[in-house]
Amino acid sequence: MPVERTQTGVPGLDEILFGGIPASNLVVISGDPGSGKTCLCLEYLYMGATKFGEAGVYISLEEPEEEIIKTGENFGWDIKKAMASRKLAIIAVELYDFDKLKNTIEDAVARLGAKRLVIDPGVIFRLYFERELDARKRILSLAKMLKRLGCTAIITNEISLDKTSSLFGLEEYVADGVVLLYHTKLEDRFVRSIGILKMRGTKISEKLHPIDLSQEGIKVMAKHELFEEVT
Ligand SMILES: Nc1ncnc2c1ncn2[C@@H]1O[C@H](COP(=O)(O)OP(=O)(O)OP(=O)(O)O)[C@@H](O)[C@H]1O
Ligand SMILES: [Mg+2]
Repeated sequence: MPVERTQTGVPGLDEILFGGIPASNLVVISGDPGSGKTCLCLEYLYMGATKFGEAGVYISLEEPEEEIIKTGENFGWDIKKAMASRKLAIIAVELYDFDKLKNTIEDAVARLGAKRLVIDPGVIFRLYFERELDARKRILSLAKMLKRLGCTAIITNEISLDKTSSLFGLEEYVADGVVLLYHTKLEDRFVRSIGILKMRGTKISEKLHPIDLSQEGIKVMAKHELFEEVT
């Protein structure tokens, strides 16, 4: 039986995922600062709402709601319309009570009948717990809850990918998928690229693909490899 998939709707991304993210997967997006994590997450939810009629919830742990709306509007997306039609909810949460965060997520997903969920930046959980053991327990319980809700979820991880030693936090081991976003210096310029490190339940592209981040949002150049572009 073919796997049920959540098409991201991000141009080129479903192609390198051989059709999309297997439904209900929990995916961590790890990336350099400014590599496009927030833009990609918003595009995932906006495309879900407008192209596939699937509702999505964006939990913002850092940026206020208005900032996220503005980011989308700068790409020409009618974020407020998607919100008014209850296909998108953007909720800025202050992370001072982890159980409250879980309730907020659960309520919002139920209210919209959401199939997509984003928590950005998810890595902030770590800062909340003094003890590593507490952090692990809570992240595991959150992952369990997300599975139960049946959403295809993306959690972002702010990390410098040059520091390979700190690349694999617990989130990545719990996650069904890991997507890496790079914004790196190559010779005399910066380039953006994406790679799928793992994705349970599907074949993936083994390559590093260039990304185009423009006025229209993010596009993955599925037919190209990063290094072929620069030679
Ligand atoms: N409308 C736009 N047109 C072109 N480029 C844009 C637009 N909006 C944002 N960008 C570019 O996208 C880059 C990455 O943005 P984004 O906030 O998604 O990165 P991030 O990985 O979430 O960063 P952070 O680590 O700070 O959270 C910005 O630095 C900016 O250069
Ligand atoms: Mg961000």
